[in-house]
Amino acid sequence: MVNQALGGLLAVLAAGASVAVGSAAGGRPVEAHQEAHQETHPERRGGAEQERTIAEGRRTFRFDTFGDEAYWSGVLRLHEPLATVSPRAALGVGLKVDLDALAPETVQALAAGQVNLDDPAVTAQLLARDAVVGVKGRVEGGALRSVGITCALCHSTVDDALAPGVGHRLDGWPNRDLNVGAIVSLSPNLEPVAQLLGVDVPALKAVLAAWGPGKFDAEVFMDGKATRPDGTTAATLIPPAFGLAGVNLHTFTGWGQVTYWNAFVANLEMHGQGTFFDPRLDDASKFPIAAKNGFGHVRPPEGQPDLITAKLPALHDYQLSLAAPRPPAGSFDPASAARGKDLFAGAAKCATCHVPPVFSEPGWNLHTAQELGIDDFQAQRSPDGRYRTTPLGGLFAHAKGGYYHDGRFATLGDVVEHYDQHLGLGLSASQKSDLVEYLKSL
Ligand code: HEC
Ligand code: HEC
Repeated sequence: MVNQALGGLLAVLAAGASVAVGSAAGGRPVEAHQEAHQETHPERRGGAEQERTIAEGRRTFRFDTFGDEAYWSGVLRLHEPLATVSPRAALGVGLKVDLDALAPETVQALAAGQVNLDDPAVTAQLLARDAVVGVKGRVEGGALRSVGITCALCHSTVDDALAPGVGHRLDGWPNRDLNVGAIVSLSPNLEPVAQLLGVDVPALKAVLAAWGPGKFDAEVFMDGKATRPDGTTAATLIPPAFGLAGVNLHTFTGWGQVTYWNAFVANLEMHGQGTFFDPRLDDASKFPIAAKNGFGHVRPPEGQPDLITAKLPALHDYQLSLAAPRPPAGSFDPASAARGKDLFAGAAKCATCHVPPVFSEPGWNLHTAQELGIDDFQAQRSPDGRYRTTPLGGLFAHAKGGYYHDGRFATLGDVVEHYDQHLGLGLSASQKSDLVEYLKSL
């Protein structure tokens, strides 16, 4: 029924998309001709073509909801509470404001402290300008009619140039302030989510509250496991979406390559309208919820367009184009890092798995929990039952929340200490600190 009610909205979205594409092509006949020419001569694809693809992928990453308003507004009705949230409260749950999307007079007013951050109407104005990173609102006559989410919600932050939470976009940086559980919990209609997980709404709210900032549980909607054996949340940290080129398998447990996971997330987590195939999810012992609901066999509703698949190629290219950021000068000791580099490749055995300069294994980059010296809970929630060797570029950009999939190690020093014990390395205190300085330099 909900789907029927949303048919109209989706048709409007789909029509909007095709009109935009049509007018762009129509307005640039020469370019269109060149594109057709390059189709038949792919070897002549130039830098301009590549730049267009990257720009298209960036637009998808930042702004495309794949029609997921049907879920976030149509089912969960999340726009209703968001319409009453002040900018201060929005920043408080980790949402970020894109400075470059604001009108110059708004920037001036913000800088001068003349914007009322306690006025929910300001939130609607920000949404109307596409200025809330990763949240796409439809505002009509000053009222918020619907919201959807994009990849940038979790995988972008801002540089705080104007104020904490207000700055220039940093695509690919995980938002470790974002409290996804708290935001979802605002929804006035959590019943469908609770039903999916086979719990009541208060129990679901407890699960969402346990996630905390910087975390999300992509697997709970497949296996229904909300807690680890020790009773703590089963959510993982939001990882960076930069520095992924050259890395074979992705996610903490290696579900697939970047484009596999993009299709997975767009369909199964964001609830966009598309197609997804993965018969591994039919394994009812491992993925009872996914198997029961046919999550490995998703198609758009009858007569509705696929709003995801056509966007995957450019989105893939864009993500692979995001290099890991370089650490700021002065944030590590270069001489100590140089000694750490030798240890990393030698006595500390790190490079046996983290092969420079990719810092994951060229090839099948998965390991057992035993090899790592940790429990296998999260690994067993994935098809291969293993952990993926994390690429290590730009570690400084996601220090908040800790390291390893669940943030169990608060500092890089704790990570090194763990390897020292597990691998019996016998490193001295100064060698450990050299290794840490090297990790900080990546
Ligand atoms: C609600 C937050 C959220 C949203 C929205 C989201 N992701 Fe993620 N993403 C995560 C989490 C959490 C993981 C880790 C999942 C795991 O390991 O089980 C992840 C993992 C990834 C990875 C793997 C990174 C690595 O180190 O291998 C990529 C790539 C990625 N996401 C891209 C995307 C793209 C593209 C979109 C939009 C289509 C998207 N994500 C939307 C939270 C999110
Ligand atoms: C057996 C292969 C292997 C070896 C050897 C190894 N690592 Fe790892 N490393 C991994 C895997 C797999 C992960 C992901 C663990 C997780 O997320 O739970 C990881 C994660 C990390 C992380 C956390 C990254 C993040 O973003 O959370 C750091 C830092 C790290 N390793 C550094 C090192 C250092 C330093 C050494 C040498 C002392 C080392 N590793 C040796 C496989 C290895």
